[in-house]
Amino acid sequence: MFPSTIYSDRRARLRKELNTGLVLLLGNQESPFNYPGNTYSFRQDSSFLYFFGLDHPDLAGVIDLDTGTDHIFGNDVDIDDIIWMGKQPTIWDQAKNAGVENTAPLNALSAVLKDAMDKGRTIHFLPPYRGETKLWLSDLLGIPHGGLKIEASEELIRGVIKLRMEKDDREIAEIEKMIDVAYIMHTTAMKMAKPGIVEQEIAGTIEGIALAHGGPVSFPVILSINGQTLHNHYHGNTLAEGRMLVIDAGCESGLHYASDITRTVPVGGKFSQRQREIYEIVLNANMAGIAAVKPGVPFKEIHLLAATEIVKGMKALGIMKGDVNEAVNKGAHTLFFPHGLGHPMGLDVHDLEGLGENFVGYDGEVTRSKEFGLAFLRFGRKLKKNFVMTIEPGIYFIPELIDIWKSENKLADFINYEKVETYKDFGGIRIEDDILVTDTGARVLGKPIPKTVADIEAMMSS
Ligand code: GLY
Ligand code: MN
Ligand code: MN
Repeated sequence: MFPSTIYSDRRARLRKELNTGLVLLLGNQESPFNYPGNTYSFRQDSSFLYFFGLDHPDLAGVIDLDTGTDHIFGNDVDIDDIIWMGKQPTIWDQAKNAGVENTAPLNALSAVLKDAMDKGRTIHFLPPYRGETKLWLSDLLGIPHGGLKIEASEELIRGVIKLRMEKDDREIAEIEKMIDVAYIMHTTAMKMAKPGIVEQEIAGTIEGIALAHGGPVSFPVILSINGQTLHNHYHGNTLAEGRMLVIDAGCESGLHYASDITRTVPVGGKFSQRQREIYEIVLNANMAGIAAVKPGVPFKEIHLLAATEIVKGMKALGIMKGDVNEAVNKGAHTLFFPHGLGHPMGLDVHDLEGLGENFVGYDGEVTRSKEFGLAFLRFGRKLKKNFVMTIEPGIYFIPELIDIWKSENKLADFINYEKVETYKDFGGIRIEDDILVTDTGARVLGKPIPKTVADIEAMMSS
């Protein structure tokens, strides 16, 4: 955990964002995968971690906005628990580490909330995303589980987003440590990417590296020679010369801060002419995106700048044609780059997404587009200092999407469909870095992971 004052200070700052009532933050419970005693690895809720730091199941935190007191509800372990799990710190000891002085058993929570509700006090809670939490919250508050998302407190959501979006030095250090582990994961994958190896051998090895450094991975490893499928979790293909391998993987620190890095490498270690041409377009888009990052710049503009780089490059290869800006305005690039340029990253790999993408990524100034492609941009609003974002452009040749667009002759003024046909066996390329918004621009976080053609080829042959 961070020092207890960090958590007290965060709660004090949250108080300033809200008016009156109680803030109820439920920790996560164990979640079974095939029978009750066989659970997934425990992962605490990120907002609970942010404000209370305690990394055990079955805890609830209450911040009383009117009395200025904070409370942790949870049960001390008994001898039966100790036999199976070992000795555990008492709730009071745990609470002290979070700067909280008031503790009570978990079954006291219901009466506290009922008393507050009887007095007409507001209970602020965040939208739950786990079935167990939905049922718990529904029981505590008497709200049908289907209504919890609507009844969640917008005031609290906005306050939590405001605080969690701006990372402090300790948080940035945690993230950078995890990018340094991602360096080992990615360079190991690069060296293993030889013809004849099965994807799962590499995926398992790099997940093991995350675990060996305290892990787990920050999301299921995406690793595939079919990189045209954006989030491909199938790892059964055998690597073959001529394919590109997309590796999108990161890990979580002991305090649960994430890294999220993508590299794409040629199986066997040498880019062909065709691979290098497409790769360098994506690399240009990645670097132009990073260079454009600055406080006050809307991320949507940077996304469109990256799209412009992609169209310019694709036009130079004869895959696209026509006026570059018009092509971007009409969304012609989305045939090849259908997703957003990036997202915030922190305690969640898609940071804060559970609170509602539009609350996190949009505001009164920048609203979310409904157009194909731009609609997938999770974050469009102006950047601020100390935001941590990913920059992850890509070019994908998705045969099924190409067939649909071609059959409709869609945006044919900008797309040379005959030439596109010759790339349907190409796969996809994505290059993703994690950056910090500084006073004047961006800093790419962590130990640099090879991403130029020369650096990747050198690493793969080392
Ligand atoms: N790792 C998933 C993503 O890049 O958004
Ligand atoms: Mn990623
Ligand atoms: Mn990402």
